[in-house]
Parts: sequence; structure tokens; C-alpha cells
Amino acid sequence: MMRAPPTLLLLVVLAGALAGGGGVEAALLKAHFYRHSCPVAETVVRDIVQASVAANPAALPARLLRLFFHDCFVRGCDASLLIDSTAGSTAEKDAAPNRSLGGFEIVDTAKAVLEAVPPGVVSCADIVALAARDAVSFQLGRDLWDVQLGRRDGVVSRASEALSDIPSPSDNFTTLEANFASKGLDVKDLVILSGAHTIGVGHCNLFSSRLFSSTTTGAVAPATDPTLNAAYAAQLRAACGSPSNNATTVPMDPESPARFDSHYYVNLKLGRGLFRSDAALLADRRAAGLIHALTKEGHFLKEFKNAVRKMGRVGVLTGDQGEIRRNCRVVNS
Ligand code: HEM
Ligand SMILES: *[C@@H]1O[C@H](CO)[C@@H](O)[C@H](O)[C@H]1NC(C)=O
Ligand SMILES: *[C@@H]1O[C@H](CO)[C@@H](O)[C@H](O)[C@H]1NC(C)=O
Ligand SMILES: *[C@@H]1O[C@H](CO)[C@@H](O)[C@H](O)[C@H]1NC(C)=O
Repeated sequence: MMRAPPTLLLLVVLAGALAGGGGVEAALLKAHFYRHSCPVAETVVRDIVQASVAANPAALPARLLRLFFHDCFVRGCDASLLIDSTAGSTAEKDAAPNRSLGGFEIVDTAKAVLEAVPPGVVSCADIVALAARDAVSFQLGRDLWDVQLGRRDGVVSRASEALSDIPSPSDNFTTLEANFASKGLDVKDLVILSGAHTIGVGHCNLFSSRLFSSTTTGAVAPATDPTLNAAYAAQLRAACGSPSNNATTVPMDPESPARFDSHYYVNLKLGRGLFRSDAALLADRRAAGLIHALTKEGHFLKEFKNAVRKMGRVGVLTGDQGEIRRNCRVVNS
């Protein structure tokens, strides 16, 4: 066999990286990307997130983690979710699945501080990625995963894309698998990232079709989705009252709603997954086969670390793509 010249070898390796899952962008994200350009970046975000989470430990970690997910699933992790609607365009954050999204003000605070030291360096997309990690890690007192950086900010945000790209709580397994596949994420990623539902809350109207049925007269009668534990369904009916209740929330993991543990999978096995999309993971042999091992905390945390890093690489802009937004809510003019 002839020896290929080194430059050719390099080209072959580069072409492989380009063709591989995640694409070249992923290769360009790296740890401590701001080491020289803005050495305080990671500390500033951490301090601001930790101070905010300390004041609201029950709700904020879940909000910031969900913000990261919703950002990454629409146009990639490019902070398009943070852009405000304008007169001519309704933005992602104003689409229906935005219900209960929060944490925007924490990203704004971090961005305001970072714009002073020096301006135009740290992207909003990286702040979102760091904030999710720092918030979820707060309670455990150690970083649950390391964040690769170097994302740049997108300039487009469309409500219609949030509607099509954010999975729905009533999705079946086939739809969920296809949605994740369209982001380069597989069934294993789907099962592991769904474990994020070990923290946070859900609104009654998003799962009430599992609790009630409408009769021909239009009256509402108690009913139970057969995949939902009957006793749990009764508790949820009592908490929610009516199927259209969009004001009440219930914890997704009632025993430890603010702890990032592996109870999500324990609940699933007991028929206590809150949404149809949670219960759907038991309907697929491959997905169901992963669940038992994930009930072990150490295994879940190790796997989540890999999966959330992978999620953080979805569709990222790097190099000279996109821009570094000066205000996370507005594209640069
Ligand atoms: C697999 C598809 C998924 C579906 C269908 C889904 C759906 C939902 C829904 C409907 C809610 C409740 C929203 C509300 O009631 O206002 C929710 C909450 C949440 N989701 Fe997901 N989700 C999915 C995957 C993920 C992923 C991948 C993550 C993060 C890695 C995530 C993190 C969260 C968090 C932390 C909350 C709680 C938010 C809070 O309490 O403020 N979800 N999700
Ligand atoms: C979510 O969208 C609704 C309109 O559908 C809007 O009134 C609301 O302010 C939005 N929420 C956030 C947090 O942007
Ligand atoms: C899953 O949902 C999609 C869209 O609602 C539907 O077309 C499909 O038939 C469903 N698949 C199964 C296996 O129920
Ligand atoms: C909640 O329901 C009420 C009445 O059914 C409706 O007027 C309101 O717009 C709903 N709010 C949201 C955020 O969907």
C-alpha cells in the first residue's frame, strides 16, 4: 500500500470530521474557549446563576435547563430563543410551547456584566449553556458536566419553528424518535435527556387528557390513560380539578421535585411518568431496555453528562458564523 502524503491524510481526517455526526461545528467547540479573550466569563455566569438559584432553588434550575433544551431544538443552540418578537416577526419565545419558560432575566444579567469586560466577546448561546449547567449543579456543589464553548448567536427567531421543532407532551414514541433524530440525537439520547424531568413542574392542561374524558354531551368524566398508574391519576385529578386548568402545576417528580436524581426512571417504571411523552418511552423495546439501568443514580448522572453535551452541540454556529449579540433580546443592527 502506498503511503499517503501527510497533507492528504489530514484532508481525509478533516473530511471524516465534516461528514461525521455533529459536523465540523462540534469539533470547534472547546472547553475554556474564553480563557484568553474573556477569562472571567465562566466565573461571572456562575456567580450570577448561583446567587439567583440560591434565592429560588425550587424553580430556577428547571427553568434554566429547559431554556437550554428549547434553544438547542430550534435552529440549534444559537440563543434564537432569547430574541424578542418585533413588529414584523413573532419570535420563538412567543410560541405556544413557551408556556412557563423562564430564566431569561438571568441570562440578561450575565450578558450585561460580560458586555463590560470586554464587549462583543461572550455569546448569548454560551451563557445559556453555562447557566443550565451551573443551575443544575448548584445543589450538588460540583459541576455535573463540563460545558464546551465557542457557540455564536443566530439572527433569526420564528415562532412557527418552535411549534414544529419542540416536541409535544402528547407525542408518541415514533414522533419523539423522529424529532430527536432530526437533531442528530438517537433513542438513547431521548431516554437520557428525558431524565431532565426529574426536576420542575408541568401544567395540568398538558396532561389532563390522560385523566379525563369528554362524554357525548360534552360533560367531563374521570378516566385514566391505561399507561398511567390509577392511584397517581386520582391524585392528579384531585390536584387539577378540571381538564382545562392551565393555572395549576404539579411537580414532575413529586418525591424530590428539586433534586437532580434518577427518580424519573423509578417513576416511569411505576406508571408515574407525567406526560404521554414520558410514558411513551416504555412503549419502545429499545427505550424501555435502557430504563432499568438508569434508575441507578451514578449511571444516570454519567450518561446525562454525555447526552447533554451532545445536545449542546446541536446545530451550533461557530467561527465567523452568526454574531456575538450585544443584547440577547435583539439581533445586532
Ligand atoms: C422528550 C421530549 C420532551 C417533551 C415532550 C417535553 C415536554 C415538556 C413539558 C410539556 C413540560 C412542562 C411545561 C409546562 O407545563 O409549562 C416540560 C418541562 C420541563 N422540561 Fe421537558 N420535554 C421534553 C424533553 C426535555 C429535555 C430534553 C429537557 C432537558 C434536557 C427537558 C427539560 C425540562 C424541564 C427542566 C422542565 C421543567 C421546567 C420548569 O419547571 O420550569 N425536557 N417538558
Ligand atoms: C409566550 O407566548 C405568549 C403568546 O403566545 C406571550 O403572551 C407570552 O408573553 C410568552 N411568554 C414568554 C415567557 O415570552
Ligand atoms: C404517532 O403519532 C403520529 C402523529 O400524531 C401518528 O401519525 C402515528 O400514527 C402515531 N404512531 C403510533 C404508532 O401510534
Ligand atoms: C388559560 O385559560 C383561560 C381560560 O380558559 C384563557 O383565557 C387563557 O388565555 C389561558 N392562558 C394560557 C396561558 O393559555
